[in-house]
Amino acid sequence: MKSPRLIQIARDDPQAVRAELLAGLVAPTATIAPKYLYDALGSRLFAAITELPEYYPTRTEAAIFSREMRDMARALGPVDCLVDLGAGNCEKAARLFETFRVRRYVAVDISVTFLRDSLACLQREHPEMDMLGIGLDFSQNLALPAEVGPGPRTLFYPGSSIGNFTPDAALAFLRQAHAASQGGALLIGVDLVKPAAVLEPAYDDPLGVTAAFNRNMLLHLNRLASTDFEIADWRHVAFFSSADSRIEMHLEALRDTTVCWPGGERRFAAGERMHTENSCKWRLDDFAALLREAGFKGLRHWTDERQWFAVFAAESHDA
Ligand code: AVJ
Repeated sequence: MKSPRLIQIARDDPQAVRAELLAGLVAPTATIAPKYLYDALGSRLFAAITELPEYYPTRTEAAIFSREMRDMARALGPVDCLVDLGAGNCEKAARLFETFRVRRYVAVDISVTFLRDSLACLQREHPEMDMLGIGLDFSQNLALPAEVGPGPRTLFYPGSSIGNFTPDAALAFLRQAHAASQGGALLIGVDLVKPAAVLEPAYDDPLGVTAAFNRNMLLHLNRLASTDFEIADWRHVAFFSSADSRIEMHLEALRDTTVCWPGGERRFAAGERMHTENSCKWRLDDFAALLREAGFKGLRHWTDERQWFAVFAAESHDA
């Protein structure tokens, strides 16, 4: 049996992380990057979100894949190398292995320790498959190491994580994806514009799981930046901005409060907000235009009957 190879690309050192977080905290509108939502508890809370009746994206995307997988595989042809961006437990990609006739699987996530167990487990089910795990924060720079191999790659980016990027940043990311595919393809999940009455409960559920997910970021920050945030002083706010076609998540101070850390502090007035996440919602045509602008061709897409979510396949080479 083969065994998965694991590589960790240099991570930011703790001082650099602290400096980045504190710069966001003292900005006129305090901002924290959404990747800091995912400490160990945050990742579990996100998994719980995907089970909520109001959070439609995960199950809608899964339904599109189970219904259309054969058609997708026909559109893409056999996949020599599947690169899974934000692989986590590798479950979504593993469902594609057979139908897409994947020969080599490359799982990428921010930390290689998330990947070790999932990959070892997958390797037992697929003893002949080449597997590689890469720890890499690809949100800023999607340069993949040479170990991924020389041929064309199919990049897999499900879950509508592309929504965390503003349209400009999404274009920059897709251009990097186009280059990183080496003439291969992209398979990507995108959440679509829909009424606020559907969107808002998905990001502000009555059980309060999304609120816990958002507020937990402060505990993570306290550990990373030695701040002294009190969870009880902050409430979760999520709304759909139709001007920017996105859900915005914020944390709002319930009372005047001062947050301190070694060497600094920030005062927040009651009602003042910190911006923690954008989740952009796309129109089908606009996302297709974005893919073309990034250099992709031969676009295909599949949706559910309500057109709430879409999966796009796009080729990096001329047909
Ligand atoms: C993981 C970025 C796709 O935007 O729907 C879920 C994160 N935030 N609920 C999303 C999230 C609040 C999620 N993504």
